[in-house]
Amino acid sequence: MTDDTILSVADLSLRFGAKPKVKGSGLLAVNKVSFDLKQGETLSIVGESGSGKTTIGRCIARLYAPSQGSMVFQAKDGPVDLATLDKAGLRKVRREIQMLFQDPNASLNSRMRIGEIVAEPLEIHGIGTKAERIERVRSLLERVGLSADAVNRYPHQLSGGQRQRVGIARALTISPRLLICDEPVSALDVSVQAQVLNLLGDLQKEMGLTYIFVSHDLGVVDYISDRIMVLYLGTVMELATRDDLFAAPAHPYTRALLDAMPARVGGKHRKRKVLSGEIGGPSGLRKGCVFAGRCPFATDICRTHEPELRPWRRRPETRVACHHADDLDLGSYDQPPPEPESLP
Ligand SMILES: Nc1ncnc2c1ncn2[C@@H]1O[C@H](COP(=O)(O)OP(=O)(O)OP(=O)(O)O)[C@@H](O)[C@H]1O
Ligand SMILES: [Mg+2]
Repeated sequence: MTDDTILSVADLSLRFGAKPKVKGSGLLAVNKVSFDLKQGETLSIVGESGSGKTTIGRCIARLYAPSQGSMVFQAKDGPVDLATLDKAGLRKVRREIQMLFQDPNASLNSRMRIGEIVAEPLEIHGIGTKAERIERVRSLLERVGLSADAVNRYPHQLSGGQRQRVGIARALTISPRLLICDEPVSALDVSVQAQVLNLLGDLQKEMGLTYIFVSHDLGVVDYISDRIMVLYLGTVMELATRDDLFAAPAHPYTRALLDAMPARVGGKHRKRKVLSGEIGGPSGLRKGCVFAGRCPFATDICRTHEPELRPWRRRPETRVACHHADDLDLGSYDQPPPEPESLP
């Protein structure tokens, strides 16, 4: 952990519906996830549906209590472990950690006016006088690009993009330091997506915010991230800077995600490839690498031993969980390697 680390997650696991005395029971949604987050950076979490992205975000926001692991957050008053914090401690730290959700329709109360929605967190936390709250709401709505008369409107009177701007204003009213964004632009039109992403980027710089950005869309992630964490069945496959991940993917699953993306604008046109094989079951006791069943490079060791996340020989800043990563050259986003058949 370095000085500018704001959050340090170690060995985070969450098992849904586990029976206390039955080892391996329930559904392992998050499997020993570890990462550090630096003040002011954007770390994205990508992976297919059901890979555990939302669950990790909800653990950090402590909407879920993890089954195992620690999440040390550098709060204003000093470090706290979010995993074991009591109710009073959580209430305090919630001022510093906020969540932004995918569907602004579902997350905004349809019977409340926009002004009330944005002011609510201030009221919950008892911040400011009435006049100060009104002023704070007005200036935030303006900052996120909504006109002053929006305060008296209802969510259904706004467009999807405008609603997500309200969601952003609401998340920022109490000046959090960490914002967990769960697919914040997935429900929006592509043209509106870029506007909202730009707004998030500008706000981050102005307010020194740190983002955890959950998305299944690598195009969006390419646009916004400093670093990217690739998740498969709750397990970290690769953790790399955005540039490294696209220039030199280390894990066969990352390669598969890149192959499923349309070419970048101006990039070479290429055929989209779709992963074959079955996604393994997330429950029960696991053996080996969770991706082995779908991996074109899998050998015996992959089916028997779970690989650890460790620095990659070719780019030490990249960490990868693959027995064969050091022997593989998976090309780059723009230059896929020849069809893999087996290990060299
Ligand atoms: N409250 C819950 N109770 C039981 N199982 C759950 C619960 N929430 C999620 N799961 C399961 O945990 C796994 C991870 O789910 P999660 O919602 O975190 O995935 P995700 O990566 O966010 O997927 P998506 O891209 O579809 O949003 C899935 O198998 C899901 O079915
Ligand atoms: Mg999700």
